[in-house]
Amino acid sequence: MKPGDVVELLVEKGVYRGRGLAREAGRVVFVAGALPGDRVRARVEKVKRDWAEARVERLEAPSPQRRPAPCAHAARCGGCAYQELAPAAQVELKRGILVESLERARVPLAGVEVGVTASPEAGWRWRGRMHVDWIDGRPRLGFREEGAHVLVDVERCLQFTPGLQALADELRNGLVADPGGLSGVRELRLAEGGDGVTRVAALAVEGRLEPGAAARLAERVPGATGLGWQGSGPGAPFVRIAGEPCVFTPRPEGVLRSHVLSFFQGNAACLDALVLRALETVSGADRVLELYAGVGLFTLPLARRASHVRAVEAAPWAVEDARHNLAEHPTVQLVEDDVLRDAHAWARGRFDAALLDPPRAGAGPEVVDALARARVGRIGYVSCDPTTLARDLRRLGEHGFALRSLHLLDLFPDTFHLEAVAALER
Ligand SMILES: C[S@@+](CC[C@H](N)C(=O)[O-])C[C@H]1O[C@@H](n2cnc3c(N)ncnc32)[C@H](O)[C@@H]1O
Repeated sequence: MKPGDVVELLVEKGVYRGRGLAREAGRVVFVAGALPGDRVRARVEKVKRDWAEARVERLEAPSPQRRPAPCAHAARCGGCAYQELAPAAQVELKRGILVESLERARVPLAGVEVGVTASPEAGWRWRGRMHVDWIDGRPRLGFREEGAHVLVDVERCLQFTPGLQALADELRNGLVADPGGLSGVRELRLAEGGDGVTRVAALAVEGRLEPGAAARLAERVPGATGLGWQGSGPGAPFVRIAGEPCVFTPRPEGVLRSHVLSFFQGNAACLDALVLRALETVSGADRVLELYAGVGLFTLPLARRASHVRAVEAAPWAVEDARHNLAEHPTVQLVEDDVLRDAHAWARGRFDAALLDPPRAGAGPEVVDALARARVGRIGYVSCDPTTLARDLRRLGEHGFALRSLHLLDLFPDTFHLEAVAALER
């Protein structure tokens, strides 16, 4: 087998990142564009000793699980990998991927039930990014093709809530109307609040945005309650154009403010379920260490349940929001720092439990080892990447933490992404 060859493959199962897995001539082949049960002709793109990568050229016999994609852009847009798989089959596939990731890392799963929370398939996304390319003075707004740099113009994304779509529509019209002033815009970051009112956009700009062009755009986007831009380069300031750059989301314990540049969960429909699952992992704990706290989504309810919460977050926008959101909660000690730099304080804090929600890279060995030294008895781990979750759970196992429960939340329907909440104890 060599790059460029076309091979016929039967896809055995789905693996992480939306690929299908097949076998050919003693190698595992990861096939882009293939679903479990498909028989395909695929062009080989990369060949290593034990494995290869290929991309579907023709579907010879489709999997019985296939359905017509609900989105017109599905064939090209890289945003969704599973449009052609019915929602129930997507959840089952992700469940299998999660379990297999842990099994491959030799995380003991005997007796561990895997719970599942599904999401509505459409209209769930209230935060998102759209890329912008300019071709002959006209903007293209959308998402990149899978494995390529080409941008697919997506006028309507089924993932978006109606509010986010309306904001994207106004911004598109604003860009179309003023190519001279806005040709430096490379990306839009969009956010909608749970209050049904706030909608904010941040433009990522190459170079700078002239004040006149910014003002004209603000007039053409009346549905935005806030608008701003940021140049490229590390530490570039966020420049406010109009309104407030934050959205607001009411929660049972108060209202959460989040800046358009702060991290906030992207699935509006499953927010309650995620918080519930995360809190369950540390229920009854009196002193909680919370790592990667963001704007305080878990911190706010924890503040009511525990007598002390040490919440650690590094990103300045999120810390500023968290400070605002938690101002009336003296039980919370908010620490603006890298989690690892804060580790020296964990042993002195005498915590019963830790709750962590790292980015895709996971917590990593140093944070895991520091948690083990902190002598917490229970750990809740919220993860958006099964590979790094498996790696970290394995290491936690070496420190004596056993997995007690696992919950899959399909926070990103139609995409290959998945969220999991793991509860551990020692
Ligand atoms: C997946 S988000 C979770 C935030 C929050 N738990 C929530 O659900 O909204 C991860 C957060 O970790 C923060 N972060 C990433 N690396 C970090 C580090 N090394 N130290 C502290 N915080 C970090 C990010 O800024 C982000 O807010």
